[in-house]
Amino acid sequence: MPSQTEVNEASAPRFEPAVSKRMKASAPRRLRRAFSLDDFEAAARRHLPKPIFDYVAGTAESGRSHSANLSDFAAIGFVPNSLRGHIGRSQKTVIFGKEYDRPFGIAPMGLSALAAYDGDVVLAQAAADCGTLAMMSATSLTSLERVAEQAQSRWFQAYFPGDEERVLGMTDRIARAGFDTLVITVDVAVNGNRETDLRNGFATPLKPTPKLAWQGATHPAWLLGTAFKTLRTHGMPHFENLDVDRGPPILARDLVRSFSGREQLRWDHVEAARARWKGNFVLKGVLSPKDAERARAIGCDGIIVSNHGGRQLDGAVSAISALPKVVEAAGDMTVMLDSGVRRGTDVLKALALGAQFVFVGRPMLYAAAVAGKPGVRYAMDILSAEIDRNMALLGIGDLSEMTRDLLVMPDTSRRSF
Ligand code: GLV
Repeated sequence: MPSQTEVNEASAPRFEPAVSKRMKASAPRRLRRAFSLDDFEAAARRHLPKPIFDYVAGTAESGRSHSANLSDFAAIGFVPNSLRGHIGRSQKTVIFGKEYDRPFGIAPMGLSALAAYDGDVVLAQAAADCGTLAMMSATSLTSLERVAEQAQSRWFQAYFPGDEERVLGMTDRIARAGFDTLVITVDVAVNGNRETDLRNGFATPLKPTPKLAWQGATHPAWLLGTAFKTLRTHGMPHFENLDVDRGPPILARDLVRSFSGREQLRWDHVEAARARWKGNFVLKGVLSPKDAERARAIGCDGIIVSNHGGRQLDGAVSAISALPKVVEAAGDMTVMLDSGVRRGTDVLKALALGAQFVFVGRPMLYAAAVAGKPGVRYAMDILSAEIDRNMALLGIGDLSEMTRDLLVMPDTSRRSF
């Protein structure tokens, strides 16, 4: 007779570890201890000078919207199907008529090339290697033409000023470079109040202070592998993509024009860009069903439900809690989501609530900073491995089966406000 322990071990289901041995063996050395997207943050915190890490990790004011992004995902429960017998599971996803291998891509992030060597190109190439996409950020330090050419980047996220001439000039420049999807961010009338950046003296223009120099000197891998390598290979970084013409260097005092005019941006400017742009036209930062209706009325093809990763209006509702009502108002537009996606379960919850695709931000940039392109591919594989395992546990073989009846929503009816 086998002992009780032997019986239990023999009949215990044998799951591969979330990150399989094969994946672990291919992990970049510096990421051997990363098993989930959250682990990339710790690795990046060690690698990056504090002001740069804090800029990426940072939130507006008290970080309430960022916390809500995470806790509102956590508050949604699953009610799995059992005994469905799915062996082959697929994460293939179609948006705007194009098939991707994964239901998630990389969100646009400013100053990526300051955190990771050639960050904008690295993120886009890694995403393409993984059969998905990275959206290029307007506050990037790499010319959009180079990212389009070297990384086949096709989604560009713009910060437009409220000035039709500048809007149309920039729209034409993005089209000329070969982008097919234009994403206009609508939650940045002014910059969010990022107190951590102020405390760190990290502002635009960047001032080379002794504190900053000390941070560089005490993070030699970043200093040599990112800062010096960038200066040697590409010269002083400039804000390249805020306007029709190349912007000033990050140290310049005259950055004002590049960031000016966003307060004046209105629906009629967006309509003018829509009329001019031939490809897919998307608004990012939509939380209100009314804005979704209006976006549809002016001919947008898609919207991204987002609170900017909690970096703009602190107290803005979480993207995941805003999603269901926005989906109802969106009609046939493609609805996507970013803000707070850290787990495969988060991706699946967003899909169940009507998102067709999601974007992941900070963890991908941490991966690029610490381990370049292989790091980003590894982060994407970790997330896909989680999604695959979660699909098996939910009893679904295809993402179209990820429907709302597999969820239990938090009970908000007992709140008195
Ligand atoms: C840029 O978009 C930022 O949020 O810092």
